[in-house]
Amino acid sequence: MTLRIAVIPGDGIGPEVIEQATRVLTRVGGVDLHPLPWSADHYLKTGETLPPDGYDLLRSFDAILLGALGDPRVPDNRHARDVLLGTRVELDLYVNYRPVRLLDDRLCPLKHRTRADVDFAVFRENTEGVYVGVGGRFKPGTPDEIAVQEEVNTFKGVNRIVRHAFEFARAHGLRRVCMADKSNAMTHGHALWQRVFAEVTQEYPRIEATHLYIDALAMFLVQNPGQFQVIVTNNLFGDIVTDVGGALQGGLGMAASGNIHPSTSLGAGPRPGMFEPVHGSAPPLAGKNVANPIGAILSAALMLETLGRGDDARRIERAVEGAVQAGEVTRDVGGALGTREAGDAILKRL
Ligand code: NAD
Ligand code: IPM
Ligand code: MN
Repeated sequence: MTLRIAVIPGDGIGPEVIEQATRVLTRVGGVDLHPLPWSADHYLKTGETLPPDGYDLLRSFDAILLGALGDPRVPDNRHARDVLLGTRVELDLYVNYRPVRLLDDRLCPLKHRTRADVDFAVFRENTEGVYVGVGGRFKPGTPDEIAVQEEVNTFKGVNRIVRHAFEFARAHGLRRVCMADKSNAMTHGHALWQRVFAEVTQEYPRIEATHLYIDALAMFLVQNPGQFQVIVTNNLFGDIVTDVGGALQGGLGMAASGNIHPSTSLGAGPRPGMFEPVHGSAPPLAGKNVANPIGAILSAALMLETLGRGDDARRIERAVEGAVQAGEVTRDVGGALGTREAGDAILKRL
């Protein structure tokens, strides 16, 4: 069955890395790609971030592939809020799955660490936390200004992401799940994480459940990442630790992600997932053919895997690994190739 994929290249390096991802998808075949122009350019030109029926349009696809959104000409990030954060919430893509896997020992920035030390999954809650946009500014621009931004944690929201992390561990034969919060300082909101984690833990006696405060997690990710198999945390902390995860893989350009509602798999429900590299639009790199396309390409592989095309996903991952191990990559990860040529190196291995 041909998959219908919405493609949102977005801003900055987004279009350059997505072009390589769509070349790879076209090569493996079985996809029908529908580009959507939503970006800073589009917003500045039309005044529209996405059309009124934009989320319904997205719902009509099997999946969404996104580059990145963010542009200095849109300082309030309005279009990214609507297109990126809006889609996560409107399509209820409550799981942000961010695998952290080192593809070659030479890429790890940590001394004496190998592929065996960097191989874990982060589950970032993706629909609440500080991202709900509850708050406001009082007397803005004056010496009396007050700025409030609330963090929202709901039982439903915390419960479903924590359960998902345990289910993932069980399904993949993993033995350890670590939940990270800041319940020593955020004694209201994160007490809910503590409660849910304690409850869910009881149901998975064969999985070792550990808790770390987020500051300690950040430290251990650098000091001893090998201890982690599955990490689950809130929206903001998940955002931050997965940039650290990107660095552990050799750089942000290597990191892939999927925004998923667990009914995303075909046959289980109509909700498309949105797949995107972890990195942003990196304005200083845009238009120079230097951006690493691997995060985008691995996100496309993750998309295929989620849609039941695991064999094609493996093929892409093997081609990426081959290119990485041969050093046929962009400069950020020690190679000498441009974005397009790094895409060629992967395509020729497919
Ligand atoms: P960024 O991820 O865009 O870039 C940070 C740095 O990481 C870059 O300067 C570069 O050194 C490196 N980098 C990132 N991607 C790379 C790649 N593919 N190849 C090589 N090097 C790469 O983060 P930022 O500079 O903080 O944000 C820039 C804009 O992107 C902002 O507007 C931000 O809001 C937005 N953003 C969007 C997304 C998204 O759409 N999902 C994610 C993160 C940031
Ligand atoms: C990400 C990004 C976004 C986020 C920004 C662009 C709002 O950093 O997807 O990791 O914070 O979720
Ligand atoms: Mn981020």
